[in-house]
Amino acid sequence: MNVLFVASELAPFAKTGGLADVMGALPAALHRNGVNVRVVVPLYDTIDQTKFHFERVVHRMELNLGQHRYVAQIVKSTLEGPPLYFVHCPALYARGRLYTSDQDEHRRFLALSYAALQLCGHLDFAPDVVHCHDWQAALIPMLLKTFGQQDRRLRRAKSLLTIHNLNYQGSFHAMTGPDTNLDNFTHLFHQDLLKQDRINYMLQGVLFADGISTVSPTYAKEIQTEAHGAGLDGLLRQRTSTVVGILNGVDYNEWSPETDKHIAAPFSAQDLAGKEACKQALLQQLGLPYRQGVPVVGIVSRLVWQKGFDLVGEVMPGILARTGCQLVVLGSGEPPIEEMFRHLQRTFPRQVCFFNGFQNPLAHMIEAGADMFVMPSRYEPCGLNQMYSLRYGTVPIVHKTGGLADTVQLWNPRSGRGTGFPFEHHDAAGLRWGLEAALSTYKDRRQWDRLVQNGMAQDYGWAQQSKLYELVYQRLLTN
Ligand code: ADP
Ligand code: GLC
Repeated sequence: MNVLFVASELAPFAKTGGLADVMGALPAALHRNGVNVRVVVPLYDTIDQTKFHFERVVHRMELNLGQHRYVAQIVKSTLEGPPLYFVHCPALYARGRLYTSDQDEHRRFLALSYAALQLCGHLDFAPDVVHCHDWQAALIPMLLKTFGQQDRRLRRAKSLLTIHNLNYQGSFHAMTGPDTNLDNFTHLFHQDLLKQDRINYMLQGVLFADGISTVSPTYAKEIQTEAHGAGLDGLLRQRTSTVVGILNGVDYNEWSPETDKHIAAPFSAQDLAGKEACKQALLQQLGLPYRQGVPVVGIVSRLVWQKGFDLVGEVMPGILARTGCQLVVLGSGEPPIEEMFRHLQRTFPRQVCFFNGFQNPLAHMIEAGADMFVMPSRYEPCGLNQMYSLRYGTVPIVHKTGGLADTVQLWNPRSGRGTGFPFEHHDAAGLRWGLEAALSTYKDRRQWDRLVQNGMAQDYGWAQQSKLYELVYQRLLTN
């Protein structure tokens, strides 16, 4: 089976969130299963070319998008594993960051999509499935059903669109339409939207992909409701038989306390001593005092509306004042949320540290060194940090939504079962309940150890999840 992956992020090269982690791990897992995978992403200027090495495989590729002409090269990473291809086109990808609100944002990812399909010709690679991720690759299903029909290598390819986050749709003014080269196929665009002068890439993907998947079973149901459908729930319901939810996996090569290169001391479910050393090292690095028995709450996140941190702003001051616990936060994003965390740090300088930035080693240190981890997301397609937390014995306190609902089971002190504290309603009372339940359980060492061990015993590896993707591919090929 030949599968072509197209996406805008890929760990460890270019990452803003979980999409990168998935792209770094799922193709590799499929490759180990014997699937013939190729991955195509942009060569952003943020990719450290002294750290990663590339060889050139296509010297000159012309990409014509309406009136716009680009010349790209295709380079290939020298890393082991599935072949990873990068589209080198500085005119589009030298912006100092992955995403922009520049006028040509749609062209940056149209170019990626066209480059990926053209690359199949250069490599003589006939994909059985083109696996498209998020809006950046969501026009590919249409390209396959139009231009792809004239290309013997693409004619039989099926498309799978994976939705990692339905709220980012790639909605552009209809004036950008000619850049898609689909002038002769305007009837294939959603006509009501066109009348409103819009083209929506995710929507077109939902209409034309042969299969649609998303990154947890609960989110697969949620996106078919008005509350979480971001305007596309009606179309998703019409295609409900093709919509599946496959929970993301964890790359335990990267995220395991036994082998993590970034943490102060290794530890395991059998021997938790190292975790206390990690906690001390974390607090020391952040300039907070360490006192035995004082719980540390961790947060690592993009600081955006989705993640629901306004609740932390409401609830945490009271909890910090009353219980004396500590809070460490790593993240960057929207200025008001950053300011809220700065304010918390100013008010509780010995209890709170906010590290404003993006730093992978510190993310690992927080997963390892914190006792609890908070994710009050309004919605969460899957979420990876709660699964990392479980493996590091860091008890998750989460809003019961999307993938968070699928991965964190409520702790039951009587049965000794459960892995964390999911709260039902996204409000201050919900988060306060979760934090207080966790903090009071923490005081009972025996109970807490049991809860920690339960979490560490969970297995969310890619080995099983990649098999579920293979089943989806197979179903697409037989339909
Ligand atoms: P999302 O993709 O919505 O951001 P996920 O939980 O799926 O949420 O994945 C987030 C990923 O990004 C995790 O690997 C997390 O550790 C990482 N991450 C988020 N913010 C930061 C940050 N400020 N520094 C380092 N890593 C971060
Ligand atoms: C998105 C979602 C997140 C998910 C990630 C990887 O960024 O917000 O919940 O884990 O994609 O699928």
